[in-house]
Amino acid sequence: MKAIAVEPGAGVPEIVERPVPEPATGDALVRVCRVGVDGTDYEVIEGSHGGTPAGDDRLILGHEAVGIVEDANGTSLEEGQYVVPTVRRPPAGAETNEYFERGEPDMAPEGEYVERGILGAHGFMAEYVTSPADSLVPIPDELAPWGFLVEPISISEKALQHARATRSAFDWEPESALVLGNGSLGLLTVAMFTTTLGYDRVYCLGRRDRPDPSIDVIERLGATYVDSRETPVSEIATAYEPMDVIYEATGYAKHAFESIDALAPNGVAALLGVPGDWSFEVDGGRLHRELVLHNKALVGSVNSNRTHFEAATETLAALPDEVLEAIVTGIYGLDAVDRAFPEITANVAAAGHGSSERVEDDTPIKTAVEFAPI
Ligand code: NAP
Ligand code: BGC
Ligand code: ZN
Repeated sequence: MKAIAVEPGAGVPEIVERPVPEPATGDALVRVCRVGVDGTDYEVIEGSHGGTPAGDDRLILGHEAVGIVEDANGTSLEEGQYVVPTVRRPPAGAETNEYFERGEPDMAPEGEYVERGILGAHGFMAEYVTSPADSLVPIPDELAPWGFLVEPISISEKALQHARATRSAFDWEPESALVLGNGSLGLLTVAMFTTTLGYDRVYCLGRRDRPDPSIDVIERLGATYVDSRETPVSEIATAYEPMDVIYEATGYAKHAFESIDALAPNGVAALLGVPGDWSFEVDGGRLHRELVLHNKALVGSVNSNRTHFEAATETLAALPDEVLEAIVTGIYGLDAVDRAFPEITANVAAAGHGSSERVEDDTPIKTAVEFAPI
């Protein structure tokens, strides 16, 4: 079968041949249909995040998948059912641990998990994958074309659940929300705030000139575009309004600290980005004081568990098709796989390697690879 693999830090994703995997007891065999690409995939490709399974110099990419059960292998799943796999698995050699037993692998510390397609385990960009049946979340047939969005939406379900939980000790009625980052995670979260969560006032930060398709999505959703080159995050409270909730999805490390100033009293910021090391100066005393005297909270959030995938499936069903069509700018078969990785294609072209054309889409937002039709 064909799969898409990379040598992290040293290569570009390429199509490789691998044997079709055999499901072990408790596993089902899944025919993969579509797999989304996100910012984490680029971090894995450049070698700044994640890593290969022990003893392998390449990693099969992909952690945002939807597929169809090909062989239920005696599990409770049904053949022909569409499923979305969760990402974390117990570390190599371990069958489980307390986090997996509790259904909370997303809360496991480093060393207690691997992540398929990201860290220490091959991912879902392959024609077939196997997975324990309890890590495969069934979704309705009509959602299957967008099923690769369940995983990223589940990331926001978890982060916002944890943000709300930090405010659960008092009567909190948030009305304003700011999303930092107009990538695919940011835009999906803007759609959640304006659509399913019903926030009155939603803002989204980027650093792009108009016209830009991500700004069109923001405005079509009734949210306000904020350009960080004109209004730094630390000035948003005065230039726009103080925010009850901030969702950081830029991976730009200063935003974690600048968010403290952008929050309203009693507000909470969820941090999602995974930046590299970066030393810079902050006025720690003032920020500490600001957090304390205004009851503000910062919460980091990573990954998601089955409950978040189930919530995400409901959210996905409620998001209008035209919004999803605007966010997903391209779904490409294996014959055009380079177009599913537009940042790589652009970098290769810019470096003068090979004859890669620039991608035709103007500024793609979310792309996916199609392995089998839905
Ligand atoms: P992405 O497509 O790279 O999006 C990041 C966006 O932030 C880009 O559109 C970028 O703008 C924008 N941005 C970066 N710095 C900015 C600045 N200073 N001012 C304004 N905009 C800025 O990535 P993604 O897939 O949406 O994911 C977002 C982040 O979340 C990544 O760091 C990713 O690793 C992380 N993530 C974390 C989790 C988790 O579980 N915690 C899950 C998924 C993703 P340009 O494109 O114009 O440069
Ligand atoms: C994935 C998560 C994962 C995180 C950190 C994200 O892109 O969606 O499932 O836990 O990266 O590796
Ligand atoms: Zn991801």
